[in-house]
Amino acid sequence: MAAERSKILIIGGTGYIGKFVVDASAKAGHPTFALVRESTVADPVKGPLVESFKNSGVTLVHGDLNDHESLVKAIKQVDVVISTVGNMQIGDQTKIIAAIKEAGNVKRFFPSEFGVDVDHQNALEPASSAFNGKKQIRRAIEAEGIPFTYVACNCFAGYFLPTLVQPGATAPPRDKVTILGDGNPKGNK
Ligand SMILES: NC(=O)c1ccc[n+]([C@@H]2O[C@H](COP(=O)([O-])OP(=O)(O)OC[C@H]3O[C@@H](n4cnc5c(N)ncnc54)[C@H](OP(=O)(O)O)[C@@H]3O)[C@@H](O)[C@H]2O)c1
Repeated sequence: MAAERSKILIIGGTGYIGKFVVDASAKAGHPTFALVRESTVADPVKGPLVESFKNSGVTLVHGDLNDHESLVKAIKQVDVVISTVGNMQIGDQTKIIAAIKEAGNVKRFFPSEFGVDVDHQNALEPASSAFNGKKQIRRAIEAEGIPFTYVACNCFAGYFLPTLVQPGATAPPRDKVTILGDGNPKGNK
């Protein structure tokens, strides 16, 4: 008998990384749920993405990180929770942890990581502070005894190269590029 597929909830599925995770989960045949904010469904840019989730058989669940009941209700429907929330919401994942504890049914939690292994890094600011936020979430998950997987997949060239790693830039800078440190360390130590 074929093993039953895990039911997967993605929180942050309308984000840069999240949309690929939603797509991969649905294509792998997992019953896939995406927590989406109601305001995002009506958003002219993200609305079509949400519509494409529905067309792929993804179950949409309305909710928000700041609405505890909505998180618990969504989490109770699944076995696995994957968070792909953005860098500004890393600390807010304590709210997901609290909801997972209350729901009591989750077999595995993937917090929003998808970068360097934050327990083994020696980054400069501003990356260092961002990585520390992810570290704190790791410790909170472990303290609560929630089964976890941390996905450390290093940098995506497609994300950073178009702006030559200049924070806030939306196009390649032509006049000036800030190089952190003395410019000699290798990108991937
Ligand atoms: N390795 C790399 O090179 C690399 C590159 C980029 C990102 N990352 C990592 O990947 C992870 C995801 O980053 P990202 O850039 O893909 O994120 P993002 O594009 O900023 O997406 C954020 C997601 O969180 C959702 N969200 C925000 N506030 C919410 C709330 N209050 N309630 C529910 N959902 C909320 C957003 O929903 P709405 O659509 O409703 O706003 C969106 O789906 C982060 O950990 C980041 O560090 C790694």
